[in-house]
Amino acid sequence: MEQSYRFSVAPMLDCTDRHFRVLMRQISRHALLYSEMVVARAIDHILQEARVDGSERQRRLERLLGCDPIERPLALQLGGDDPKILAQTAALAAEWGYDEVNLNVGCPSAKVVQGRFGACLMAEPERVAECVAAMVQASGLPVTVKHRIGIDARDSFAELVQFVDTVASGGASRFSVHARKAWLKGLDPHQNRTVPPLRWDLVQQLKQARPGLVIELNGGLETLEDCESVLARNPGSKTDEGSVGMDGVMVGRAAYGHPLRWKAVDRVVFGQPRKEASAASVVMGLVPHADRWCSRGGRLWPMARHLVHLVQGVGGARHWRNSITQEACRRDAGPEVLIAAAQQLEARGV
Ligand SMILES: Cc1cc2nc3c(=O)[nH]c(=O)nc-3n(C[C@H](O)[C@H](O)[C@H](O)COP(=O)(O)O)c2cc1C
Repeated sequence: MEQSYRFSVAPMLDCTDRHFRVLMRQISRHALLYSEMVVARAIDHILQEARVDGSERQRRLERLLGCDPIERPLALQLGGDDPKILAQTAALAAEWGYDEVNLNVGCPSAKVVQGRFGACLMAEPERVAECVAAMVQASGLPVTVKHRIGIDARDSFAELVQFVDTVASGGASRFSVHARKAWLKGLDPHQNRTVPPLRWDLVQQLKQARPGLVIELNGGLETLEDCESVLARNPGSKTDEGSVGMDGVMVGRAAYGHPLRWKAVDRVVFGQPRKEASAASVVMGLVPHADRWCSRGGRLWPMARHLVHLVQGVGGARHWRNSITQEACRRDAGPEVLIAAAQQLEARGV
């Protein structure tokens, strides 16, 4: 777990489910992986539901919290604003085998803002600090916060520093800063990931102002070279370009859309010599997971759907994608589909 945050794959709804995380684990053994955001109230609702029996309750919790030890190091991201409910869910995170709990203070979706959590909590640093303190106490896990550089008119550097200082006083171990502000009115979540300009410089300035805090940069990192250009060689040191080095980098869309682009991450970022994954080795590596999943009644498609981005820029890629899509959609599809698909890739040397 130590320093796994030097490179992490961002929490992404509908993308970073347990299957994608197992896929990413074939590419990096060391990167920190995040869950999709889980709404703490949804967990509370399951716990309070009087009409369901114990095994049904467990099944519902499994759907939201289920993970496999091979996914570790792994953080559970929570959405919420109620310290008690968040604390209860953080305690469950420890029980279910997560290494860390992360609070979402960056999501600007209308639904989330209506629930008074996500990015709008940037206007309530004391409340965030209270939530963090309650989660630390209940779980014993490191609690981290993912946030923006500002929201709406509350976007000065002084307000950003005040937010981080206040939340740090609640015991937050790390700040993952999406280097864009969010407009809560007027832009949808997609626009809020593209329209507000990227301000890596502000996140670097934050690290300079608060060298003692662990700060991770997120937003617009496209390649391993981008990551190297902002990472500190040693904690607190400067980058090769002379700017303040970040403690970690978090990559979202470029990891989901191009998983194999990151195959050198263990060597380059973590200094761990390792044979780089190929498309064939990734698919083959998923077989034991598929075996376990399908033997418990799971379908193959939720896993195979993530493979469509794995093979890119090589002859026959589209044919391979079409064929695995067709095969994996079958109701009775099992690990044998992955074995055959891996063999095809192996034969082509990809
Ligand atoms: C499809 C999608 C779903 C996302 N879901 C979440 C989420 O559940 N929690 C969260 O904190 N951020 C979420 N994000 C934001 C990402 O974690 C990340 O902050 C953002 O995409 C910027 O990083 P990038 O430029 O590397 O993609 C999501 C982004 C995308 C594209």
